[in-house]
Amino acid sequence: MNTVSFQIPEKLLALQNKLNTLRNEGKLLLQNGDTGNASAPSNIALIKYWGKSRTEFQIPDNPSLSFTLNNFRSTTQVTVLGRFFPEGETPKYIPQYEFYLSDPETNNTVQPDEKMELQRNIPEKLNVFLKNILSPFAADISVKIESYNNFPTACGMASSASGMAALTLAIANLLNLEKHFSKTELQYWLAQWARMGSGSAIRSVSLAKNSQFVSWEMVGTESTIKNIPTHKKWNQLRHCVFALNSKPKEIKSSDGHMAAHTSPLHLIRVNNVKENFLTFKKALKNFNFEFVSSFTENDAFNMHAVMQTSIPPATYLNHKVSFVISEFIEFRKKEKIKAFWTLDAGPNIHFLYLSAHRKKMMKFHKEVSTKLKLSSFVNLTHDIKIYE
Ligand code: PMV
Repeated sequence: MNTVSFQIPEKLLALQNKLNTLRNEGKLLLQNGDTGNASAPSNIALIKYWGKSRTEFQIPDNPSLSFTLNNFRSTTQVTVLGRFFPEGETPKYIPQYEFYLSDPETNNTVQPDEKMELQRNIPEKLNVFLKNILSPFAADISVKIESYNNFPTACGMASSASGMAALTLAIANLLNLEKHFSKTELQYWLAQWARMGSGSAIRSVSLAKNSQFVSWEMVGTESTIKNIPTHKKWNQLRHCVFALNSKPKEIKSSDGHMAAHTSPLHLIRVNNVKENFLTFKKALKNFNFEFVSSFTENDAFNMHAVMQTSIPPATYLNHKVSFVISEFIEFRKKEKIKAFWTLDAGPNIHFLYLSAHRKKMMKFHKEVSTKLKLSSFVNLTHDIKIYE
């Protein structure tokens, strides 16, 4: 029996109850083979979410803010598989789900043979998420999830953000929530469920047309998203990742969030973010490129300092990553480009730059790849792959 459960915010519970009522009234019926489809972008945090409350439901220790990565997407289909138990038999509250995942890097579709295998293979977090999100229906339906990432999965390229966002949106599509909820209710429902799956996913479910920069912060008494009004010059902002390692990450971010409190630097970072959050948003509005880039880089260093000083420690800022970052800082100074870097929980460096400087970024990629190959202290097993 699954003992993990979520503490669902009251307002969300009310929406779940509304679905339950609709279902009891026969207005929300799911049938074998019904599908829900969605695609969601990933996002890269400029101000990171790192560390969450131990007591409350997925409440971050600090507000975060990200840039939406429209080219890095998860596309998901959810299909109703039907009832678990025959008519008349008491349904047990243990849904079994099928989960298939693929991406271009592994070109690998997980397709276990037996049901039991499937249940064991499905990540616990996903299992709990499905059980809860489908609670008005979970007693008697199962779903198959087919998800495709157009970029490598689980290696610090924020696949959990787009993956959980696409899944939440696909379930909303399956349940036809657009018809049953107001837009505000739907946005709230999507945001709360997405963050339950993966904190950063909340910043990928915005229903706004141009959700370029999205924050996750307290809005009144709710921990939810805001689309940040920005200057139109940010339309020229481009993104690429230098993948130094596209293997799945070894340390799960959920473990990292829990360990953050053990670092003596954690509170210092959290306070620094809180103190500067409004200024950062103003810098986005006024196109203060210098402030946005320096604070983003600082916060990435701060978050990695917290990771490295937590118990157990985690290091993504390894010698290869540090080498590329210091080379980039030199290159930027020499070439006078408007660009900055950031790093999530994986040894892959994200760069954000103005479109006019794309050629120079490619030149930097070539130069640093060659230098890495020539350098004696780096055991380079593959080239630095670039994803845009
Ligand atoms: O969404 P999670 O639980 O995988 O945490 C994301 C953590 C970072 O990617 C490192 C930072 C962020 O805000 O996206």
